[in-house]
Amino acid sequence: MNDKVFIFDLDGVIVDTAKYHYLAWRNLANELGFEFTEEQNEQLKGVSRVRSLEILLSIGKIELSEPKKQELLKEKNEEYLEYVDKMTSDEILPGITNLLNFLEESNIKFALGSASKNAPLILKKVGLFEKFTAIVDGNDVSKAKPDPEVFIIAAKKLNKKSQECIVIEDALAGIQAANTAGMTSVAIGDEKILHEADFILADTNKLTIDFVKKLIE
Ligand code: BG6
Ligand code: MG
Repeated sequence: MNDKVFIFDLDGVIVDTAKYHYLAWRNLANELGFEFTEEQNEQLKGVSRVRSLEILLSIGKIELSEPKKQELLKEKNEEYLEYVDKMTSDEILPGITNLLNFLEESNIKFALGSASKNAPLILKKVGLFEKFTAIVDGNDVSKAKPDPEVFIIAAKKLNKKSQECIVIEDALAGIQAANTAGMTSVAIGDEKILHEADFILADTNKLTIDFVKKLIE
């Protein structure tokens, strides 16, 4: 019997919300008077909402008061939630539903390990909330990725040691968090950015049952 379990990141792994985060941050940057490219957006992937704003403001070389920052965080999230509100199961990334069904049928447990405070809402929107044995999100942690806290809590909830956990991530911060936790890291995305991962797949289509079977052997 295999002892492995899976911990999935949400944004960019289960659903393609990374594009909505980007649109909302880009609009905010434009409003503040500067451009914000997709390449720069890589720095925001996987990191908390508050940290994302700090990075964005440093890119724009802008300093703001704490109340103004709070206002912008609220504004960004409200715009983001307008996109989320329209989401359906159509936005689950290719291969994911298949994979989760396979894990369920094989009695391999899986948890969510996401920086997003909107994670439960998004999982409900796309109809996956009930599938996860545990959900650890931005509301449960005090330290954001690349700190391993989110994955360590998830492993505890699954009753597993770090070495038994396989993390699927699309962000460099998340890969670093998984590696620091001593877990197997599987990256989804660009090899140039994610080369620290144990395995790198170009997109979720490559997360095949065959690949997963080899991983857990
Ligand atoms: C991560 C995303 O999953 O969640 C980040 O990759 C995002 O881009 C972070 O900033 C926090 O999300 P939210 O939904 O709480 O603003
Ligand atoms: Mg992600």
